[in-house]
Amino acid sequence: MKQFEIADASASDMDAVNNLFDSQRFPPAPGKEGVRLALDGDGHMLGAIYVETAPDGSDNVKTVVVNPEYRGLGVGAALMEDALRSHPDLRLVSRGVSVGFYEAIGFKRCTWDDIDPQYKADCDSCEDLPTCYPVPFRSAL
Ligand SMILES: CC(C)(COP(=O)(O)OP(=O)(O)OC[C@H]1O[C@@H](n2cnc3c(N)ncnc32)[C@H](O)[C@@H]1OP(=O)(O)O)[C@@H](O)C(=O)NCCC(=O)NCCS
Repeated sequence: MKQFEIADASASDMDAVNNLFDSQRFPPAPGKEGVRLALDGDGHMLGAIYVETAPDGSDNVKTVVVNPEYRGLGVGAALMEDALRSHPDLRLVSRGVSVGFYEAIGFKRCTWDDIDPQYKADCDSCEDLPTCYPVPFRSAL
């Protein structure tokens, strides 16, 4: 695995970012703000993260996806560590299948009271809810 770097997304990256998000059934990011990319030495996108400030003012990882070819190599952890440098108190709602990832990188399970009500409502209305088992997490408790 070559080295990779984390950098801001540009407007021209957003089609590829949103295709990556869509491939894992995540909604698109509305724009490049809050989107950071993991790029290899040739500028190929290995993964992407979108951090959004919720209506309650909290910073939330809305989406983090690593290209399946590059999973298990530390790319997801690097995207999260990068986000933590700018947003030390990060919240998120994990899909059940990804809970082990967030626990491995030191996030703590929290209560839904720590999560903006909009995100809880999004889960409650999601057609995947019966099989997703979403879990709220917070970096700083
Ligand atoms: C979840 C995801 C972002 C992880 O990215 P990644 O680059 O493969 O993760 P890393 O290689 O950085 O792994 C960091 C640690 O998490 C662990 N980990 C990664 N995915 C895991 C999973 N699904 N379950 C349990 N542990 C996991 C790794 O073993 C590693 O642990 P270690 O430090 O003890 O060795 C990636 O699997 C992905 O894109 N999944 C599909 C999209 C998704 O579900 N996103 C999260 C939505 S809530």
